[in-house]
Amino acid sequence: MNVLLAGGAGYIGSHTCVELINAGHSVVIADNYSNSCPEAVRRVEEITETKIPLYEADVCDSIAVERIFAENKIDAVIHFAGLKAVGESCEKPVEYYRNNIDSTLTLLEAMKKFGVNNFIFSSSATVYGTPTTVPLVETMPTGSPTNPYGWTKLMMEQILTDTANANPEMSIVILRYFNPIGAHESGRIGEDPNGIPNNLMPYITQVAAGRLKQLGVFGNDYPTHDGTGVRDYIHVVDLAKGHVKAIEYSGEHNGTEIFNLGTGTGYSVLDIVKAFEKVNNLEIPYIIKPRRAGDIAECFADATKAKELLGWVAEKNLEDMCHDSWNWQSHNVNGYK
Ligand code: NAD
Ligand code: WQD
Repeated sequence: MNVLLAGGAGYIGSHTCVELINAGHSVVIADNYSNSCPEAVRRVEEITETKIPLYEADVCDSIAVERIFAENKIDAVIHFAGLKAVGESCEKPVEYYRNNIDSTLTLLEAMKKFGVNNFIFSSSATVYGTPTTVPLVETMPTGSPTNPYGWTKLMMEQILTDTANANPEMSIVILRYFNPIGAHESGRIGEDPNGIPNNLMPYITQVAAGRLKQLGVFGNDYPTHDGTGVRDYIHVVDLAKGHVKAIEYSGEHNGTEIFNLGTGTGYSVLDIVKAFEKVNNLEIPYIIKPRRAGDIAECFADATKAKELLGWVAEKNLEDMCHDSWNWQSHNVNGYK
């Protein structure tokens, strides 16, 4: 298939681009570089030895988006193009609703105009809100997200479900990601957050690289095996491969289908710190800080549905994730800059 990757220059998009090309698909990327840079795409071209059609475009801009559909025969769209910082979304809710929802509507309108029926959406485990039990199954009720970012994801899931209901020829695959970490094994592409990282793994790698002094562990009094928060960390290359399966599934099915993409295993913050230290033979200084507002104790996936319907399972382990995260950061101390 020829797949349009909206937000394809970003962390998950760039890795998905590699896996789609490896699987024999072709891609077109549209990105406004609000949280990425063209260098990431240049490196994907280097890894895959493939020239990638690349548009600097805001996917909320219908003229720019329609031009891409007019100039390329697009079979499917993967929509990564969202603003994703939870804390920032509380400070700038209107920007988050505008960008995340407008981009989705603009892509859906262009797809209708150009007769494209396959849509894969980057959702998030955040839509479950505060879990009452784990592991999380897709059929569990979605919760009340604790921040505007999470609400945009939940609203977009509703918009997409309604759209597929009204257009029986459409296939919409909603992927709820858990906690992606790691990087491509080449060390050429990886996660490159702006400013001080909010997420655990980029914070750890920047401490290891000497860019930050020490990690703050947000709380050690949760009801978990060591008191620190438990999450389902998934290697970004496994996640990327999940998109290849989703694209192939969407070509053969209509309607809306929701999948958790996680490993099914939860690790605590201190499990991650210890594994990172062991695998990379490094020390990560840390201090215990108060709990971070909005955090939950424990969250991990039941990924059975993705296994049964997509034929997808995460293959990489925690050691791979810690090794590949550091391989990327140590070879790119300042990211793509
Ligand atoms: P990212 O910021 O690295 O990638 C998003 C890309 O979209 C960036 O390249 C950015 O420049 C681009 N973009 C944003 N708005 C755009 C617009 N209007 N027009 C064109 N391009 C635009 O983030 P990521 O980690 O790769 O996440 C990809 C998607 O997955 C996002 O929708 C995010 O919400 C979702 N997600 C991410 C995580 C995670 O932990 N990384 C977890 C769950 C869901
Ligand atoms: C993981 C654990 C922290 C940083 C977020 C979004 C979610 C999704 C993925 C997009 C928690 C602890 C973290 C630090 C720490 N994104 N931590 N010190 O919060 O599970 O999920 O990213 O959809 O929507 O909410 O990920 O990496 O921020 O935190 O102790 O400096 O690490 O408290 O237990 P989270 P995270």
